[in-house]
Amino acid sequence: MDYAATREQALARIAQAQDLGALESLRVEFLGKQGSISGLLKTLGGMSAEDRLVVGPQIQALREAVSDALTARKAALEGAALEAQLASETLDLTLPAPEAPRGTVHPVSQVMDELAEIFADLGFAVATGPEIEDDWHNFTALNIPESHPARAMHDTFYFPDQMAADGTRMLLRTHTSPVQIRAMLQQGAPIRIIAPGRVYRSDSDATHTPMFHQVEGLVIDKGIHLGHLKWTLETFLKAFFEREDIVLRLRPSYFPFTEPSVEVDVGFALVNGKRVLGGSGDAPGHGWMELLGSGMVGRKVIEAGGLDPDEWQGFAFGVGVDRLAMLKYGMDDLRAFFDGDVRWLQHYGFSPLDVPTLSAGVGVRP
Ligand code: DAH
Repeated sequence: MDYAATREQALARIAQAQDLGALESLRVEFLGKQGSISGLLKTLGGMSAEDRLVVGPQIQALREAVSDALTARKAALEGAALEAQLASETLDLTLPAPEAPRGTVHPVSQVMDELAEIFADLGFAVATGPEIEDDWHNFTALNIPESHPARAMHDTFYFPDQMAADGTRMLLRTHTSPVQIRAMLQQGAPIRIIAPGRVYRSDSDATHTPMFHQVEGLVIDKGIHLGHLKWTLETFLKAFFEREDIVLRLRPSYFPFTEPSVEVDVGFALVNGKRVLGGSGDAPGHGWMELLGSGMVGRKVIEAGGLDPDEWQGFAFGVGVDRLAMLKYGMDDLRAFFDGDVRWLQHYGFSPLDVPTLSAGVGVRP
């Protein structure tokens, strides 16, 4: 048999195949189960050992040459098809946008963008952590050991059958504070981050939903003290509420992960029965509203983050993002945040074009 001639014929037909369908037919004809070259390979079985030594490599070479030619022609045809498609498909960029865009940016997203913008200006990066968290990051590393009453206060959602590597149960994080630990372990010191995100507690009424949002702040550096904390919070809240007359009151408090711990109140005035932030809460017609928790990061927490507390100090704070949004934009029922009611979203949502920037005002409504 003249394998060279068979090969030339096969390669010529492959080179002439005009489309992928024709090429596939050729592949079946030559190399398919019933194909001619497959048939040749089967004849090897009936040959003497000497014949097989001579003929075997020739048939194999033929099979390989045909297979390579099929692959090359396929690539060429596909390339040509793509070229043709690119040449024929055009995108009409002159199509007008819909006259009235329907979607809006949710106030929580908008406020998170405002926070990122304000804190970026102060040199803070945005960090994130998992919403499905382990017991150690959510509690133990934050100096909330097993049996600590704070665990009961957090109304934690545990996973019944999902265990962490250390044998404790996995849970939905009850606060953004575990991101403090993750940030320290991941990036070492110094640190300046905010960590906005979803948190979960088994709690539900007009001001509590099982899922809500917090933003955590963490600064770790050398020689950090309460003065830095107070300045940072004051600068942040003045920028966020866009009022220079924001007055803070720091009250001693208790959180397991900070020492000392500080609860921060903000002064408001009663105007037509509505609370308007600004001015000292001690002035006549004024009051104080509790806004956030904060403090100097505890030694044990810094150690859990893999840092030496004699070398590194820091402050942290945690505040409800939904609450910040309600205070700034005047909603009074938290549950509506998560109802997905289009009328509510049309009213309280933001235009996608209204990207918060410090120069234009972080939260100006169009
Ligand atoms: N993690 C606390 C909570 O969810 C809030 C908090 C308080 C965070 C004090 C802090 C802090 O970082 O220093 O109730």
